[in-house]
Amino acid sequence: MYRKHNLADSEEAQDAMATRRTLRPAQSQVADSYEHKTADSPMRPDVGTQAQFKKRKPPKTYSYDTSLDPALSWDESSGSRGLGEWLLGRITDAARLPAPHRFAEPQRLTGADGKTLATVIGLEDAVEQLKAIERPFLNWAGKAERLSFDVPTLPLFIHERLSTKAILATLKGHKREGVDLQIDLFGDPRHSIVEQSLRAYEHRDRWVNRMILGDSLAVMNSLVEYEGMRGQVQMIYMDPPYGVKFGSNFQPFVRKRDVTHNDDEDMTREPEMVQAYRDTWELGLHSYLTYLRDRLLLARELLTPSGSVFVQISDENLHHVREVIDEVFGQSNCCAVITFKKTGGQSSTLISGVCDYILWYARDRERAKYRELFFVKKPGEEGAKQYNWIETEDGFRRAMSPGETVENLPDKARIFQPYPLVSMGSSAKDTPFVWSEKTFYPSPNRHWSVTNVGLEKIAAASRLLAIGNTLRFVNYLEDYPVTPLTNLWTDTQTSGFASDKFYVVQTLPEVIARCVLMTTDPGDLVIDPTCGSGTTAYVSEQWGRRWITIDTSRVPLALARQRLLTATFSWYELVDENRGPAGGFVYKRKQNKKGEEVGGIVPHVTLKSIANNEPPDEEILVDRPEEDKKTVRVTGAFCVEATIPTAADLEGMNANPEAENVQAAHEETTESFTDRMLEILRRSPLLRLPGNRNVELTNIRKPAKSLSLQAEALVAATAEGQDATIADAADEALEASGGLLDGLTKRPVAFIFGPENGAVSERLVYEAAREACAKNYTHLYVIGFAIHPNARQLVENAEQMIGIRATYVQMTPDVLMGDLLKNMRSSQIFSVCGLPEVELRLRADGKYEVELMGLDVFDPATMESSHEKGDDVPAWFLDTDYNGLCFHVSQAFFPRTSAWEGLKKALKADYEETVWDHLAGTVSAPFEPNGQGEIAVKVIDDRGNELMVTRKIREAKKTA
Ligand SMILES: C[S@@+](CC[C@H](N)C(=O)[O-])C[C@H]1O[C@@H](n2cnc3c(N)ncnc32)[C@H](O)[C@@H]1O
Repeated sequence: MYRKHNLADSEEAQDAMATRRTLRPAQSQVADSYEHKTADSPMRPDVGTQAQFKKRKPPKTYSYDTSLDPALSWDESSGSRGLGEWLLGRITDAARLPAPHRFAEPQRLTGADGKTLATVIGLEDAVEQLKAIERPFLNWAGKAERLSFDVPTLPLFIHERLSTKAILATLKGHKREGVDLQIDLFGDPRHSIVEQSLRAYEHRDRWVNRMILGDSLAVMNSLVEYEGMRGQVQMIYMDPPYGVKFGSNFQPFVRKRDVTHNDDEDMTREPEMVQAYRDTWELGLHSYLTYLRDRLLLARELLTPSGSVFVQISDENLHHVREVIDEVFGQSNCCAVITFKKTGGQSSTLISGVCDYILWYARDRERAKYRELFFVKKPGEEGAKQYNWIETEDGFRRAMSPGETVENLPDKARIFQPYPLVSMGSSAKDTPFVWSEKTFYPSPNRHWSVTNVGLEKIAAASRLLAIGNTLRFVNYLEDYPVTPLTNLWTDTQTSGFASDKFYVVQTLPEVIARCVLMTTDPGDLVIDPTCGSGTTAYVSEQWGRRWITIDTSRVPLALARQRLLTATFSWYELVDENRGPAGGFVYKRKQNKKGEEVGGIVPHVTLKSIANNEPPDEEILVDRPEEDKKTVRVTGAFCVEATIPTAADLEGMNANPEAENVQAAHEETTESFTDRMLEILRRSPLLRLPGNRNVELTNIRKPAKSLSLQAEALVAATAEGQDATIADAADEALEASGGLLDGLTKRPVAFIFGPENGAVSERLVYEAAREACAKNYTHLYVIGFAIHPNARQLVENAEQMIGIRATYVQMTPDVLMGDLLKNMRSSQIFSVCGLPEVELRLRADGKYEVELMGLDVFDPATMESSHEKGDDVPAWFLDTDYNGLCFHVSQAFFPRTSAWEGLKKALKADYEETVWDHLAGTVSAPFEPNGQGEIAVKVIDDRGNELMVTRKIREAKKTA
């Protein structure tokens, strides 16, 4: 039970409030955000410094608990016999030791490969482990063979910094703030490249919340291995795909919320998702359980001893998932299975299913942090059904009459429940109690709950009521106006609110908020490895918790980013401004005019407190802190990070630093990377264009002789679904021509692949384009994980400058992460994205502005460009002072949406209407650039792809 004293009365609280009052002007609303001043995190390098990044680490192996065989079969192949015998040996040894029978050093059983299979510290745990061998458990295909798994250990690079306060400051001052304020508003310590290269992951920086693109397994491993975050996380909320309809549960488009199960049109075209879903679910439920177990194991590594994990799941797999969590966390650490209502009613031929479930496990149930939640009692409803008596103003007590409700009670009537004064079990002696000239006895087999002296005190407090021969305690509603939340949440249904959702599989914020509030305090760290539209991040931000959220797909991250950037929250007063939320929120006891308790502290008067003349207990309602209505709270600074794949071969090099010829090893690395890319291209020969159109490549091979080109192929125009005979006919014609190319339907094209660990450079494009032009290819495809803005520009202008058309093709980073290319119709690895067309203008007043004219997308099949209008993109961002590395979002635009509406309303007095018009359109608000002399524009397309261009300030077009 979480009982607290009145924090608001503390001296710190008074001081803090006084400080705030002096800091904030009284007249208008102020926008501010929480800062986690007492927390820090290791420095992660900015994107763009990959070439200098040297601290590579080998993959990490995680082992399961090997003792879990389905039965005590003593079958050699399962290994349990060996383990059993070894444990029996340790039990015999430990039994000879004096109590508590512990070994001086932990005893280990190692496998043939040297890996530890089991560890025993003494008699007690050896017996437990032996017992575990015969415990029944869930088995699935592939489980027995998988005793451990490897996870690549990847560094995280910071790609983007966002801060609503920084955007508001830019809009007000028309310029991005100076370096010092930069640090403050964006939380960017601005380390030099040298410093980032030398001290990444060593130096500690101020904490900012984090959104990370990558597979949850790799990212959680990076947090453990690079950042030492083992045991640091207070709560993890996982809402994995439910694993029901294996092609569903994700959303391919930023602005299209409806997903039809297993409709290939709607199946993800999101390259990252291809891996997460196709590979993972290859064996259906079997793979799904493996997927979950691996991630749960990593989640457990991250949790503090008092931490909790919540796993949201539907009824289809609830039973299996529970068994998997039992295995990883231990049955005894299950805290609750929460049932929550997700919908009002569903048509079904049989009984309607309206609930989903949350499995709550603690790292260690005995030590779990728990803040009890309450809801306000409503007489007659669940938790307050017995409050059906009233005491009228003149002191008369009676049962409520039929039809009488809270709404139509006599004026000043007090509601109460006649509470039993007896407890189970007969008393040793006869204990009559005389009151109002009548003698009362506890009922048969009962005894008075308090002593006779206590009963006297209750009588003196006018709290006794006789109903027939039974004596009752008058327990007013206001004695304890709340009731604890149970594991059944029926008030959470979404019916009617579906249109408010950002994401097709979004969880209701209230559901996650309860989990956050029950198991964390302000300032604690919450992680969601299944970000989706960022509900966990959103409620963590709302409640002053630190957060890290991870998703493998760009679409949900784009949605989450918009949601957080434009959100407004109440400002909950802080006990200690200098510590930030970690110092706690202020709670007060308050009553409204009707005398109802409306503060964050409520009384808990009990029979015993009156009988013993004790001051009543109090409960803290953690979800009702004091609010400062003058301050509009916005999301604090956060950053977007991503895993950068570590080249597998570089790992090899690192493992063998003495390699005689490092140069040769490097060439080999490049060579094998090119071979891998070629193989991937052959197996997935489709380039994806916007509008679900594809360009098909044939005859993919290495060029006979080349300086920089890495592949060549023929390209044919095959719109999706086009009659295959056309392509066949073209192939036949080609064959008939003895290999000479049919210039009409198929054209020879050349390819280069960007580096494995960085962005495509301008030089690479230049050299490849010259060679491709000289060798009469009709087109150059530049395939990369990322591309430097100048290189991107050169790709666009290659025809004018070098004489050959070029197209940039974005490749999904996770092609590096394993064996990907199993057959699946929607596996699409390569996508052709547009290039933003922007105009940078110098206005007559000396300020600058940028207009997003549109997106140009080149179709290599028809050799034509199509143009998408600027206001037809889901989002675009402007960095008014781009430093060539991390993108700082100084202005964020969500065209033709009301995304900024909440802030606009809240800050009406402070910002002109036109400011908000800019943020919903294609022309930026005017700005003055700072020192870098360059701006950058990033456009998020419908599939969450990020397309970036830069412009030099000196090249701005002058307007009259
Ligand atoms: C059911 S949704 C979560 C929805 C979220 N609770 C919300 O309120 O929006 C599951 C999310 O997990 C992500 N996901 C699935 N597998 C993943 C993986 N291996 N790593 C990271 N994210 C993954 C999907 O992209 C999807 O956005």
